[in-house]
Amino acid sequence: MHKIQVEDKEFEIFLENDTINKRIRLMGIQMNVDYENKCPLFIGVLNGSFLFMADLIKEVNIPCEVAFMRVASYEGTSSSGQVKELIGLPANIKDRDIIVVEDIVDTGLTLTHILKMIKEKNPASVKVASLLLKPSALKYEIEDLAYVGFEIPNEFVVGYGLDYNGLGRNLIDIYRATEA
Ligand code: IMP
Repeated sequence: MHKIQVEDKEFEIFLENDTINKRIRLMGIQMNVDYENKCPLFIGVLNGSFLFMADLIKEVNIPCEVAFMRVASYEGTSSSGQVKELIGLPANIKDRDIIVVEDIVDTGLTLTHILKMIKEKNPASVKVASLLLKPSALKYEIEDLAYVGFEIPNEFVVGYGLDYNGLGRNLIDIYRATEA
């Protein structure tokens, strides 16, 4: 079993680049069908989505636009605990068909917040494409989650854009932590 070390954590191979790319190809084909005669605006959520977006967009052959946004998370003082602040939502969202591109949906908190902000700008439609989904970690129901690459167990993963303490985004495969 191929193992790597990122800082203090040991990881083992989970999804190889070839497997990831094959799945992304199918997601792109589905989007070409679903958005035929439309011009969707893909909005990638930084930082984790940059490799997924790059590979996904190469499989999309309908007219489309690409933008990125970023959310900052921090511990708030309110009882809800976590607050997310939105930075740099693209301006041209009104009446557009939006596809939000995420690396991973864990609890769904980040995405819930992003979707609320986008919908306030009156887009024609909003769907989400996430490379990974941890169904058993989901706390917020995401009804717009139309495209999921892989459903994975509730384990920490790194690589292909996903990081551990900022490291590992450059790995071409996805690895999972060998222990919690
Ligand atoms: P959520 O708000 O709980 O859905 O968390 C989503 C964000 O947490 C993702 O965009 C990632 O940045 C990060 N995240 C969640 N799970 C993992 C993981 O297993 N590896 C790396 N980052 C993760």
